[in-house]
Amino acid sequence: MRKLTKWLPFMALMATIAGSSLYLFFGGGNGYYKPATADPAVIYRQACVECHGKRGEGKGVLYPAFDKYMDEEDVLREIREGNWRMPAFRYIRGDTLMILARFIADHGYLKHKE
Ligand code: HEC
Repeated sequence: MRKLTKWLPFMALMATIAGSSLYLFFGGGNGYYKPATADPAVIYRQACVECHGKRGEGKGVLYPAFDKYMDEEDVLREIREGNWRMPAFRYIRGDTLMILARFIADHGYLKHKE
């Protein structure tokens, strides 16, 4: 019995780590991010870069690089609705949302592999 109790703190720690990575994996990031600016470059850096990388190159297998051929509509939908590993950003909306979507669709993010 003594042996088991010795491992309890360790097991609790592991459970916490496993739990929060599952949460991050499926819940994905922070959809409650509120932009304090309309500058799309700043918003991208604050809310998107952690998964999509500085130039949209993505991160490992979990976060694929941006599709080169996505258009403004795709980007808009993605930000509004999210997907199974990306949160929907409900506070990015209106003009800020339009500008961000255009920025990502137009910008060099599409050229990350060239
Ligand atoms: C928690 C990680 C995470 C964050 C934060 C995140 N995304 Fe994503 N995003 C993903 C994943 C994962 C995918 C790909 C899902 C799939 O189709 O498998 C994706 C897909 C996309 C796509 C579609 C890409 C394509 O090739 O069609 C766009 C556009 C996009 N994200 C924009 C954004 C923007 C803009 C932000 C910031 C406001 C953002 N993402 C923040 C994880 C994230």
